[in-house]
Amino acid sequence: MKIAVIGTGYVGLVQGTCLADSGNDVVCVDKVSEKIERLRRGEIPIYEPGLTELVLRNSKDGRLRFTTDLAEGIREAEIVFIAVGTPQGDDGGADLSGVWAVGEQLARHLDDRDHPKIIVVKSTVPVGTNAELGRRISMLTDVPFHVASNPEFLKEGAAIDDFTKPDRVVVGVRSPEVAEKLHELYAPFLRTDRPFLVMSPESAEMTKYVANCMLAVKISFINEMANLCEAYGADINDVRRGIGHDQRIGFHFLHPGVGYGGSCFPKDVRAMIHMARSKQMSSRMMEAVDEVNEAQKHVLPRKIIEFFGGPEGLNGKTIALWGLAFKPKTDDIREAPSLVLIDTLLAAGASVRVHDPEAMPNVRAIYGDRITFCDRPYGCLEQADALAIATEWNEFRNPDFEIMRRLLNRPVVFDGRNLYDPEKMTELGFTYFGIGRS
Ligand code: UDX
Repeated sequence: MKIAVIGTGYVGLVQGTCLADSGNDVVCVDKVSEKIERLRRGEIPIYEPGLTELVLRNSKDGRLRFTTDLAEGIREAEIVFIAVGTPQGDDGGADLSGVWAVGEQLARHLDDRDHPKIIVVKSTVPVGTNAELGRRISMLTDVPFHVASNPEFLKEGAAIDDFTKPDRVVVGVRSPEVAEKLHELYAPFLRTDRPFLVMSPESAEMTKYVANCMLAVKISFINEMANLCEAYGADINDVRRGIGHDQRIGFHFLHPGVGYGGSCFPKDVRAMIHMARSKQMSSRMMEAVDEVNEAQKHVLPRKIIEFFGGPEGLNGKTIALWGLAFKPKTDDIREAPSLVLIDTLLAAGASVRVHDPEAMPNVRAIYGDRITFCDRPYGCLEQADALAIATEWNEFRNPDFEIMRRLLNRPVVFDGRNLYDPEKMTELGFTYFGIGRS
């Protein structure tokens, strides 16, 4: 099939590349010419395992092309995906200006009356956006077209796998022919137990928000329970096992930590709050989830401050920090809890030494030389008065504790991801703090 993808951010680039890889003819369009030039040279603007190889292979084979020219990009396309960003607006709702702008341009360039193009919204958009987009385009052109919703459930760091082996594909359409066409497109990735779910655009749009809100609920729930465990001398890890075997509860996405970050959960939770308010309702659950998460980002900084006897005690101390990205296998630091920790430590007058396998350039862009960037995890510990961990990169899971103890000024570990066993750490001579573990 001939496909156009507008927006070469995270979602668009993965979508375009994976569709090219299954034999489609794909043109990716972006208005930022520097980005397109880099992509043409095979330089990928984000870190995502496996993506560079796939872009290079499909570009070389001629199935994947990049352009800034939207008119040319969509000329032949049967299906046009809109994958532009919908950042959080000033009022907490999603900022849809990117989607509307693309809609207008599409309207100007639709010209094939015999073969109506299918315009598919991939971006996460508030309920009603597809309908509104259809209205806006049809006010500008009388060339026929279809609008469909097809929310994206990719996780950063596992995007290719998530795309090629989706748990489900959701499409929101008004006509069965459009559903059929999209089914054909996704058929190579659907296994018998992975459904292709057809519903209205409104339900599809809602599905995406409900999925992310549900996952955010789970994280804020377990974080709150972890804090209570700690207060009462219980261990959240044991409690997790105690509840997880109940099949109605399960183990997934119930890891306590430093709070969720990233581009999706914080923004989508707030968008849900905004959607409720727009209907004179309130989402008290999501308001609480957001609040609990913001508070959770301060739990590790507070433990460190308490240990050093208040902010004054941190003045002049050096803290090593392993992990900056909001989660492993990405260089993304949007809404990352590590940034709250760094800010708190700097405000108290501490020196901060950091290590992250991928995210250091992004953090350097914010802090410059106000913190020290270390190429190696062990080097980061030299002369530090404690180690804090904010991201569970695999390389931090099984370190040489003997070396760690030798390098640190004091063997103190604040583990924001519960990577280590508290008993073992005590045996090894560390003063150890986890989340929700006494
Ligand atoms: C998420 C959704 O999973 C994905 O379906 C959607 O399309 C986009 O948003 P992503 O933001 O890439 O994906 O990351 P995810 O792996 O879901 O993690 C989100 C955050 O939750 C991270 O900060 C992570 O550390 C945190 N988390 C996750 C926990 O604190 N505990 C958990 O048990 C799971």
